[in-house]
Parts: sequence; C-alpha cells; structure tokens
Amino acid sequence: MARDRAVVEETKCASATRDTTRYYYIETYGCQMNFNDSEIVASLLEQMGYRATTDIKNADLVFINTCSIREKAEETVRRRLRYFQSVSKSIDRPFKVGVLGCMAERMKKQLLEEEQIVDMVVGPDAYRSLPQLIEEVESGQRAVNVLLSREETYADIQPVRLGSNGVSAFISIMRGCDNMCSFCVVPFTRGRERSRDPYTIVAEAADLFDRGYREVTLLGQNVDSYRWVHPQTGEVVHFAKLLQWCAEIDPRLRIRFSTSHPKDMTDEVLHTIAQYPNICKYIHLPIQSGSDRILELMRRGYTREWYLERIEAIRRIVPDCAVSSDIITGFCTETEEDHQMTLQAMEEADFCMSYMFAYSERPRTWAARNLKDDVPREVKIRRLEEVIQLQKQLSLRHNRRDIGKTFEVLIEGDSKRSSSHFKGRNSQNKMVIFPKVNGYQPGDYVYVRIDDATSATLLGHIVTNH
Ligand code: 5AD
Ligand code: SF4
Repeated sequence: MARDRAVVEETKCASATRDTTRYYYIETYGCQMNFNDSEIVASLLEQMGYRATTDIKNADLVFINTCSIREKAEETVRRRLRYFQSVSKSIDRPFKVGVLGCMAERMKKQLLEEEQIVDMVVGPDAYRSLPQLIEEVESGQRAVNVLLSREETYADIQPVRLGSNGVSAFISIMRGCDNMCSFCVVPFTRGRERSRDPYTIVAEAADLFDRGYREVTLLGQNVDSYRWVHPQTGEVVHFAKLLQWCAEIDPRLRIRFSTSHPKDMTDEVLHTIAQYPNICKYIHLPIQSGSDRILELMRRGYTREWYLERIEAIRRIVPDCAVSSDIITGFCTETEEDHQMTLQAMEEADFCMSYMFAYSERPRTWAARNLKDDVPREVKIRRLEEVIQLQKQLSLRHNRRDIGKTFEVLIEGDSKRSSSHFKGRNSQNKMVIFPKVNGYQPGDYVYVRIDDATSATLLGHIVTNH
C-alpha cells in the first residue's frame, strides 16, 4: 500500500525520488524464544538496509518464523504459507517467501521442491547467512541453509525489539537443548545446547535499561544448565552467577527467566532469587506429568517426589514465589490412574498457572520411534479439559489469596479493555489491572492494593502509603 502511494506521489511530482527502500515482513509462531529469534533476524535484515513493514503487500521479503513443537502449530504455518502464496500472486510485484526456524530442516524438501510455496528455508542457526541466501533468491534461485551449529549464539547481535512495549524485553542466554525428553522435537530442530557469553548478556541488559526498559526475561530451554567457560581464563559462569550479575545492573531493572528444569534447579539459584528483590519471585517449572511411570517414559530425569521436593525448597527459600507449569495429557500408555496422579500433583504444587497440551507425536523423537501413541484423541482431549478446569480453580484460589495484599507493579501500558486503566505485573508475574492516576506512565513502578481477582487477573488501585 505504502509503496503504491510512493509511486503515485512520484508521478505527481517529477522531482520526488522513487521509494527504493526494501521492506521485510515477519510473522512469528511458537515460543518466546522464537519471537526473540525474529528480533535477531530483523536486526540482520536492517543491517542489510531492509525496513520493517506490517503490510505484506508492501513487502519484498515475507518471512514466517515457524514452530514444530506440536502438530497444530505446523498446520497453522502451512495455512499461512498458502495465504502468502495467494497474496503474492495477486499483486504487481510479488514478494519472496522465507521459512525460518524450527520447521526448516524437516520441511525443506516438501516446501521448496514438492509444494514450491517458499523461496527460502533458513534454519535457526543459519540466520547469519541471510545476505547470501537473499542474493540467491533475488537471482531467481531457491535458497536453503538448515545447518545446525554447536557454537552459534548470536552473542554480538543487538536484536531489533519488534512489537515491544518499551518496558519489557527478552534476552536469549542459550540455544538448543541436550535433554532429549522423549516427546520433544526441540533437540532435533534447535540442536545441541550452548550458552551465550555472559558478558554480552549483561551488556545487552544494561543497554536495555539505559534505553528505558525496566524488565528483562532471560530465555533458554533449560536455564538451570546454563554454563559458560571463558575461552582464555577458564572462568566458569553458572546460572546463579548470571542472575546475580544481571540483578546488580540496577535495582530498578527486574530480572525474569524461563524455563527452569526440575532435575537441574539448584538451591543456589533459589538463594540468589531470594537475595535480590529485583529478581522476580516467579518460576516456570514444567512438571509434564504427575505419574512416575509416565515421567520415566518421558525421560524427564526426575520423579514426582523429587519434583514436589523442589516445590518445597522453593517455598522454604523463596516463600512468596509463584510457580507455573507445563502439562501434557495423553502421553503414550497414560492410564486414568496416571492422569489422576497429574491432577493430584497439580493441587499439591499449587500452580498459579499452567500451559496445558494434549500429546502430539513428533517425528524423530524417542517416543515416536519407540512408543505407540495409543491414547485415543477423545481421551487426550477429555483429560486436557479436566486439567484445564482444575488449573482454572487453582488459579482463582491463588489469585483470591492476594485480595487485600499490596504489590509493587511495573506498569506495561493501557489495559486491553479500557484506556482509563493500566496493566502491569507483580513480581509473581500476575497481571494486575488498576485505574490510571495522573503522573504515572509505562515503565514506572507503583504500589497496587488488590481489591478483586479472577482466575486470570488481579484488580486493584494505586496506593501511595503502603
Ligand atoms: N506434545 C505435546 N506437548 C508438547 N510439548 C513439547 N512437546 C510436546 C508434544 N510432542 C510441551 C511441553 C513443553 C512445552 C514447551 O510444550 O509441555 O514443556
Ligand atoms: Fe524439549 Fe525437554 Fe529440552 Fe524442554 S527440556 S526443550 S521439553 S527436550
């Protein structure tokens, strides 16, 4: 659209220069890590002179950053690719389409050769080769690089913050995963685990703080196995140290992190969380299942008892900490009894929130190669519904306990429903909605007293003396 306008203006005014800017459009699916990867890609494209557009008809390059973790996400991506193809065919200057990320390796043949709906396929460790790949595509070829790396962390790349609220940002601290949970495709799509240089992480966080950001979330598939060795001095930096360094940038910069792993989360990390008020009291600690037999088949590396002991350690060391989880229903061979054990474990762990999924078999995983996906779909969905219903009750109970308490809240912006209300989060990562008061703006900390709660939100008002 904007390009059409530029062309019209050019014909009206002979002295106007033609808009030669090249534009990229990028759409992202899946986890927060993927969103952060898109920000790295955006940074590389901007170094090449491309500018972002939100209108695909105006774009020269259209990218879709994909997710493979569940079948449903893959279906969505395919639908979008067909849509891109139809739009590209309908406009004067068709754009080129690139697939980025997790689906790249698996789908490259199908997407490039058989269906011919994309021009470029770029795996998660190959973004630095975008200049060459784009050149190939522009000369009419199809281009592909899906090589995984043991070293790439994009440590030196300053991500362009896409769709940011200017207050909170995400920083990838590691890539890949070595855990090989039997249901999970991530080790195959994102490769071996590697940790990013902590000095570049701290510098990125400090720069964000200087630019007005007040919250950073450190991202990794398993942050507890973060381990970096200085190539010259041999200095070893673990996650607790990284947290400490980030927390010491400024007390007004909140530090969050995700995802923690029950088998690796140490008391040392918990003590660091307890020690620094600006490290948020919130841990995302996926349990996946409450049955030891299923956990073993999932190859998670812990038992129910171990998990619940970790919850106790959190309560002991960081008493005001909220814990959320991921849960899979209907994993191979799961019985009604196993399912009941998951429901019980959810109650015991008192999750404030959970991401809940029906099991979906993923190619190449240990489960796909060795186990039968034998729980009927209706049963998986029914169990999922039960898990969702229970979590709703737990979340409501959790939130109701907060009525009457006062929390420090970081203002993120206007509430979705009303421009006369702000939204923000407390340290426990709960969304808090409250009426605006003159003199406050996004990025400010305020104290909010909680008056009411739903299963998803806390409602309150700003207090000046707490
Ligand atoms: N089926 C269903 N859920 C899955 N997850 C990962 N792989 C699968 C799968 N094959 C869920 C897990 C993980 C979250 C990111 O996605 O709960 O923690
Ligand atoms: Fe997948 Fe397990 Fe690694 Fe998480 S820890 S990304 S579930 S293999």
